[in-house]
Amino acid sequence: MAKLNFVTVFLATLAALGVQAVPMIEKRQSITTLTSSQVAVFKPFSWFAATAYCDPSVTKTWTCGTNCNANSDFIPVASGGDGSSIQFWYVGYSPSQSTVVVAHQGTDTSQIEALATDAEIVRGSLDSTLFPGIDSSVGVHDGFRDEQAKTATQVLAAVKSAISAHGATKVTVVGHSLGAAIALLDGIYLPLHITGVTFKTIAYGMPRVGNQEFADYVDAHISLTHINNKDDIVPIVPGRFLDFAHVPGEIHILNDLSWIFCPGQDNEDANCTIGYVPNIFSGDTDDHSGPYDGVKMGCS
Ligand SMILES: *[C@@H]1O[C@H](CO)[C@@H](O)[C@H](O)[C@H]1NC(C)=O
Repeated sequence: MAKLNFVTVFLATLAALGVQAVPMIEKRQSITTLTSSQVAVFKPFSWFAATAYCDPSVTKTWTCGTNCNANSDFIPVASGGDGSSIQFWYVGYSPSQSTVVVAHQGTDTSQIEALATDAEIVRGSLDSTLFPGIDSSVGVHDGFRDEQAKTATQVLAAVKSAISAHGATKVTVVGHSLGAAIALLDGIYLPLHITGVTFKTIAYGMPRVGNQEFADYVDAHISLTHINNKDDIVPIVPGRFLDFAHVPGEIHILNDLSWIFCPGQDNEDANCTIGYVPNIFSGDTDDHSGPYDGVKMGCS
């Protein structure tokens, strides 16, 4: 497949979502500030990501609190997980966004921090049955890989039935924290098994998931936006000194609440996460759960 220019994909994504007057981004590494209408595009997906924290038995009825009820026309198709050994997940169809939605629950800051800063982190190849054709040099955090594998085939079956039940042409995968890492892996996995629809991943507070080869694979194949809030430290772990690399598609929310688009992988601009949060001691763990344009991650 031809290498996609991320900026093109990002702009095309916004355009597809009906956002006009997207500024031209000339230089790959130059940052831009999103307009309020560009920021607003993400809000329904922030609600979807937050709703993944709700118990699926409640999510089934889609009357589960402010974040969940906000996407009131959503039609749930399947859900699972137990909120402890398996993160909650759900799949359904959003008529107002005309997309199938896949959402994965995250964890609290201390748990994700422990996972992503574990001195024993092992990176491994992706399972060749789940991820056929992906080179073994593509290495991912084994903890994140194993979490995605737990629900992969159930999620795939649910996405297929949601597509056929609603004649969908788009699939959007969302998640926060650990759920963001799972969403990114789902965003790679699902297109390897489903053709004829377009895929997009929108992740919140996502840690680094894999090595340079992984970031390059994502750069070339996946339409991704990952949104980092203020001084959250999760997006800067595991560290680059451990040979982890960040995938492209960063949006960084500053303390003044502006949303900055940071093109490329691991953009070092002072207003992108790495420049803004140079080490875990300068971060603020409270920023991990948001708010992302007013949406706090959690079932509320
Ligand atoms: C970062 O963003 C702030 C607020 O939007 C702006 O005032 C500042 O000039 C930016 N800094 C850099 C280095 O771009």
